[in-house]
Amino acid sequence: ATTLAAAAQQSGRYFGTAVAANRLSDSTYVGILNREFDMVTAENEMKMDATEPAQNRFNYGNADRIVNHARGQGKRIRGHALAWHSQQPAWMQSMSGTTLRNAMLNHVTQVATYYRGKIYAWDVVNEAFADGSSGARRDSNLQRTGNDWIEAAFRAARAADPGAKLCYNDYNTDDWTHAKTQAVYRMVQDFKSRGVPIDCVGLQSHFNNNSPVPSNYQTTLQNFANLGVDVQITELDIEGSGSTQAQNYQRVTQACLNVARCTGITVWGIRDTDSWRASGTPLLFDGNGNKKAAYNSTLAAL
Ligand code: XIL
Repeated sequence: ATTLAAAAQQSGRYFGTAVAANRLSDSTYVGILNREFDMVTAENEMKMDATEPAQNRFNYGNADRIVNHARGQGKRIRGHALAWHSQQPAWMQSMSGTTLRNAMLNHVTQVATYYRGKIYAWDVVNEAFADGSSGARRDSNLQRTGNDWIEAAFRAARAADPGAKLCYNDYNTDDWTHAKTQAVYRMVQDFKSRGVPIDCVGLQSHFNNNSPVPSNYQTTLQNFANLGVDVQITELDIEGSGSTQAQNYQRVTQACLNVARCTGITVWGIRDTDSWRASGTPLLFDGNGNKKAAYNSTLAAL
């Protein structure tokens, strides 16, 4: 196979990227997107602030530009994200209690209903656990509505779009020994045991010198999968360059390929210049759209 998508398809997987609506007029960008990827995540356009800028006034303009482009090209879509403490609209940031809980559930229901049938998997809840060694939930306005806010969001999403896989997505959940990883694992285990509808766990997998690819990464993927959920690498980027970066991409890709229920990999942008990282070169294509060593090692591992 000569593209990431075609190579991933050989084992029944997908290879995706984050897409920004304002780059869809860039022909180099769109050329790589159309050629290499078969799954698309809106980088910002499906987030709460984008889709519900004023309460109960939903705006799908930029999200639909991405969805329509992807579907027109025969690509699938990961929905990102229905409920999150970050990138909330201002009206929601100041809410609390029952009012906030109901507004969040209404948001989940409305957005998942609007896109019903068009989404492969939704990140229903994003980044709900704290960093560090506590293993606790992250403090947020949503968390303060009650510990059951996550399962309530999943139940609302299932009711709105029964065909979409429903994922919990987070970062710093790559190292199996990390308290945050263990805490997410216990939540998923609890949800499965009580019949809370969850189908997948997303590992963002933003790697850099402070947070390198852990040696037990495949173990983490396998342990989540063993709970009876799919696992997906949802926002992959790896700081660095040259052969070191290429080896890291190869390891991550190989780990996914070695876990039957790792269903796909998404990188968080196309060219280094499209990355959310202010500086650095964490992606598979350089600023000119040329394939990097990391591209070649990833393709070879698929
Ligand atoms: C980032 C986007 O890439 C940026 O453009 C935006 O300014 C901030 O959000 N975890 C997530 C993503 O789940 O939604 C974030 O995306 C990166 C970290």
